[in-house]
Amino acid sequence: MTDAARMHEITDETRAIVDIVLDYSRTRLLAEDTPLDKPLTPDELVQAAGRTIDEQGIGARQAISVFEHVLAPACITTDSPQYLSFIPSAPSKAAAAFDLVVSASSLYGGSWLEGAGAVHAENEVLRWLAAEFGLPEGAGGVFVQGGTLGNLSALVAAREAARSRALRQAQGPATPDRWRVVCSAEAHSSIASAARVMDVEIVAVPTGDDGMLRPEAVRAALDEHGDSVFAVVATAGSTNFGIVDDIAGIAEVTRDRGVWLHIDGAYGLAAMLSPRTRHLFAGVEHADSLIVDPHKWLFAPFDACALIYRDPERGRAAHTQHAEYLDTLTETADWSPSDYAVQLTRRARGLPIWFSLATYGAAVYREAITAAVDLATRIADEIERRPGLTLVRRPQLGVVVFERDGWSKADYDRWSTGLLDRQHAFVVPSSHRGRPNARFAILNPRTTFEHLTAILDTMQ
Ligand SMILES: Cc1ncc(COP(=O)(O)O)c(C=O)c1O
Repeated sequence: MTDAARMHEITDETRAIVDIVLDYSRTRLLAEDTPLDKPLTPDELVQAAGRTIDEQGIGARQAISVFEHVLAPACITTDSPQYLSFIPSAPSKAAAAFDLVVSASSLYGGSWLEGAGAVHAENEVLRWLAAEFGLPEGAGGVFVQGGTLGNLSALVAAREAARSRALRQAQGPATPDRWRVVCSAEAHSSIASAARVMDVEIVAVPTGDDGMLRPEAVRAALDEHGDSVFAVVATAGSTNFGIVDDIAGIAEVTRDRGVWLHIDGAYGLAAMLSPRTRHLFAGVEHADSLIVDPHKWLFAPFDACALIYRDPERGRAAHTQHAEYLDTLTETADWSPSDYAVQLTRRARGLPIWFSLATYGAAVYREAITAAVDLATRIADEIERRPGLTLVRRPQLGVVVFERDGWSKADYDRWSTGLLDRQHAFVVPSSHRGRPNARFAILNPRTTFEHLTAILDTMQ
């Protein structure tokens, strides 16, 4: 065997490498109690990890030892039940384990020609989600990397649809000088990011005190900006508060005006699966496009966002890449996932959730989501009961935001750093309208009421 083939041939060395990696993965997947861990500084990591890349290699055993003892402990354990910041991740064991299979199988998820089996399974999940959300039978899309890319891809398709309609109807100037997208002032930062990439303008509509975008405000924005608005984004679960916009009301306005309705449900739309919260999402069935991130509340590993179009042809018209070497893929009627978003090469990242849904069934997902909503309600009640704490808004989903009376930003920072230093919990401060606060994002089924009250106890 030549040295060039050493990395690929099946040899004793290869078998040992695979065993080392699988043994580590098995231990991590089955660990009862993984510490929260915390970041180190770049200098500390240089010191602790040493040089790992040279001409000869340090060998798999040494490399995994560096990972296990230096690198992994410098990464916060996002599936810890005490990880309550941002939006946590809590992959089911089946989903996390199956991610290894996706890697081991060298699947290409971009085209039907190369990945038909994987694409079929991903599409079954997308169809199931579309049906849950009340979209018509032909709805479909693709799993992309995350909500940011999902929102961008949907908005690009929306603008393309508006542009071709404007060109078809053109009398006078074919398209507006400036395209605009209407969303709530509390919409996720990825909408502004998409607008920057697309060089379009954001019309950020103020919400009421409850954080909800309402149809009257959307109607006023459309009155002001007319045909320059190519899409309205409703948020199905804001990141800061988990608030769901008045989607049914907004959908009535967008249908009236013939404007594309995109639903950003990256975090919250999963809660439409729960009988407890389903009613909050009335109107989703009118969406022209929507996203939900399985790596958030659908218990899949990073990274996966389900992007679904009511009429997938709109996505395809906007996104298919054309090149001579791709003719075999694009000159067919095959369903190729690459055609539906800003991407070409793609991992079949929908397979972990497919395997998990196939393994456990959908009912347990509904239960797990309902349990998180119930826990959020219960801890909100507890916060309202406790002197010295003030709930900022009643939670609708799993995000609970509250203030410790009299605390400055520096107090929250000190408290949060202390929690992580003691490996108690990961709760970063947030803020609302300039006032600092604390925020629990609850979705991990292993998070308990007692975990949360023990954290509140540290705010005395
Ligand atoms: C409502 C909402 N939209 C979009 C995103 C962006 O998703 P991602 O981080 O997967 O890009 C998030 C992330 O938290 C979100 O909560």
